[in-house]
Amino acid sequence: MSGEEEIVFEGRTEVIYKIIVVGDPQVGKTSVLDKYSSKKFKTQYIPTVGTNIVKEIVEVEEKSEKIMVNLMIWDIAGQPQFYMLHRPYFNGADGMILVFDITRSSTFSNMQNWYNTAVKYGLSGIPRILIGNKIDLKDERKIIQPMAEHLADKLNCSYYETSAKTGDNVKSIFKKMAEITRQSKVKS
Ligand code: GTP
Repeated sequence: MSGEEEIVFEGRTEVIYKIIVVGDPQVGKTSVLDKYSSKKFKTQYIPTVGTNIVKEIVEVEEKSEKIMVNLMIWDIAGQPQFYMLHRPYFNGADGMILVFDITRSSTFSNMQNWYNTAVKYGLSGIPRILIGNKIDLKDERKIIQPMAEHLADKLNCSYYETSAKTGDNVKSIFKKMAEITRQSKVKS
């Protein structure tokens, strides 16, 4: 382990990781994050301008020790006018959450492009998870679970389905992100 970002404070180990949240406009990146950090859900769509950064702490068990994982979560605007800012936003990311909307096929097809952008910025090996959001909209579903799992296999990551509206699975994806990012650092 490099240990560069590790701090031992009052007997507790703390680490800080940068996590980027990417995907097409309106898939619910901000909503999932809002639900996690403030338990609130807004129906109104307010496009993200550039990026929002939210800090969340997740406790991870490691060989009976508790590690405080500080996630600096960068919610990156999906709108094309912000593409020129991708380089600084993606720079130095330790983990990535790829989000699509299960009711819009184009957002699913574009997942590979979002991953390719990360590869372009040297992030091909970072821990990542694939998220299909808006599962509360059952009747509008276009992407079935096996399709998404197939893509997840291709991207070598796990697949989760969430609803920012009901909160389904929202907490577990950030826990998972903290765990896999930590594991990747311990291994390296
Ligand atoms: P950009 O900032 O443009 O990249 O969009 P975003 O991906 O951050 O989307 P945002 O969170 O702003 O959500 C877009 C719209 O989808 C809003 O109107 C939300 O209320 C709605 N939405 C987000 N998540 C869900 C969900 O799980 N279920 C339902 N029904 N609507 C959702």
